[in-house]
Amino acid sequence: MTKNVNITMIGTGYVGLVSGACFAALGHRVTCIDKDKTKIEKLERAEIPIYEAKLKELVDENLSKKQLFFTTELKAAVDTADVIFVAVGTPSCPVTGKADLQYVEGLARELAPLLQQYKVIVLKSTVPIGTGQRFKKIILQINPSAKFDMVSNPEFLREGSAVKDFMNPDRIVIGSESEPSRQLMNSIYDSFLQQQIPILHTDIESSELIKYAANCFLATKIAFINEIADLCEETEANIESVTKGLGLDKRIGPGYLEPGPGFGGSCFPKDTLALIQVAETLASPLSVVESVVQSNENRKKKMIQKILHICGGNILQKRLAILGVAFKANTDDIRESSAMVIIQGLQKLGAKLRIYDPAAMEKAALELPGVEWASTALDAMKEAEVVVIITEWQEFKNLKFNHFKNANKKPIVIDLRNLYDLNEMQKLGISYHSIGRPAVRNLVDIPVPVEG
Ligand code: UDX
Repeated sequence: MTKNVNITMIGTGYVGLVSGACFAALGHRVTCIDKDKTKIEKLERAEIPIYEAKLKELVDENLSKKQLFFTTELKAAVDTADVIFVAVGTPSCPVTGKADLQYVEGLARELAPLLQQYKVIVLKSTVPIGTGQRFKKIILQINPSAKFDMVSNPEFLREGSAVKDFMNPDRIVIGSESEPSRQLMNSIYDSFLQQQIPILHTDIESSELIKYAANCFLATKIAFINEIADLCEETEANIESVTKGLGLDKRIGPGYLEPGPGFGGSCFPKDTLALIQVAETLASPLSVVESVVQSNENRKKKMIQKILHICGGNILQKRLAILGVAFKANTDDIRESSAMVIIQGLQKLGAKLRIYDPAAMEKAALELPGVEWASTALDAMKEAEVVVIITEWQEFKNLKFNHFKNANKKPIVIDLRNLYDLNEMQKLGISYHSIGRPAVRNLVDIPVPVEG
C-alpha cells in the first residue's frame, strides 16, 4: 500500500531538484535543502536554475499543493525526515579523474550530530564503490549512537528528459543492509512497484557499481559505433543499415548506437574516468573502458580532421557556420561538449566561425572568445561556405536547405549527427558529408572526365 514518506533532499543540483520534484509528484512530502540562499529563494518562487523540460510545471504544482518545500535549514529538515537523500555534487578531480568526495564527506560530518531518531540515509549522488560504507563510518566516528541505515539508490536520468526518465524508469536499484530501510524504500517507489517496474534490491556496493557500470557500458557502445562508422566510410557500407542490423539482435539492443562527434556531458566523461581510477586503485584494471576514453578523445580530433579534409586541407579565413554547442539536444549544458573542442580546433586553424545554438550560446560565449554568434540557424548560415552540424536539435533536423536550391553557390554541409536524408540532399544538389554514410557530392564538385 502506498505510504507517503517525509523526504529531505540535500542538494538542489540537477539530480536533487528533479528527484525532489518527482518524489513530490508521487505524493511524498519533500523538503529540498541547499546552502545557496539565493537559489533557494528563487526555487521558492519556482524559478528553475537549469534547462529541463517539464521541471518548472512540476515544481510550481507541488509548491502550491504544499508537497514540496525549499529551505536552507539542515537541522529542521533532518528532524522532519523519514528518509534523507544525498544529492550533492561529486565532480572529477581535473588531474586524476578521481571523484571528488569533499561535499559528500562534509555532509556526513554535518549530519552526524543531527541523527537522534532513526533515519534512512540514501546516497543518490554517483559515488565510487565503498562510499556508502565510508559515509556510515564517518557518522559513527562522530556520533557512535546515531540511529540510521545507509542505502544506495543511483539515478539514471538523462538531461533534457530527466522528468520523463524519473517517471518511467527501466528499473529502480536499491542497495541496502536492513529490512526497515528496504521497506521504506519500497514505500517511496510503491507506485512503480504497482506498475510492475523492476525494483532490484542489492547490497550497497553492487548498487554503487551498477551506476558506474551502466554509464561505462553505454559510453562503450557509443565509442564502438563511432569507430564502426569510420570503418563504413572506408568501405561502401552505410552505418544506418549496420546499426539497424546490430540493434535488432536482442542481446545488443538498438539504444546508444547513434554515431556522432563523441560523447560528452556531465556524466559519461566523468564516470568513465572515475571507474578507471577506482579499478586502478584496486589493481583490477578496466582496459576496455580505458580505450573507450581514449577513443572518445581521438574522436573530437578526428572530427576536426574530417572537416579540414572535406574543405580541401585549408580553412584559413573560410566562413563556417556551426550549428550546436550543447553536448546534446534539449539542454543548455556545454560540459565536456565535443562541440566546444571541435570549435576551438577550427578556430586555431584560422576559420571564421559564426555559431548558433537554441539554448547554450550564453554559457558557451563565456568560453569562446572571438567567434560570432548568430540569432538563428539561418542567420548563422547566411554567408557560410561550410555548415557544420554538431548538436542534434530538432530545430536543425527541420532545416530543409530548400533556400539553397536555386543558389549559385551552395555551402558544403557537414553533418556530425546524421540528421538529413541522403536522397533529399542529393535532390537539392548539396555537397553533403555525414558520419559513416556515403558522401553526397554536388554535381559541380565532380570533375568532368577528360576525353580520349
Ligand atoms: C547519461 C546517462 O544516460 C544517464 O543514465 C546518467 O544518469 C547520466 O548520464 P546524459 O549525460 O544526460 O545521461 O546524456 P545521454 O543522453 O546519455 O548522452 C550522453 C552523450 O552521449 C551525449 O554527448 C550524446 O550526444 C552521446 N550519445 C548518446 C551519442 O553520441 N550516441 C548515442 O547513441 C547516444
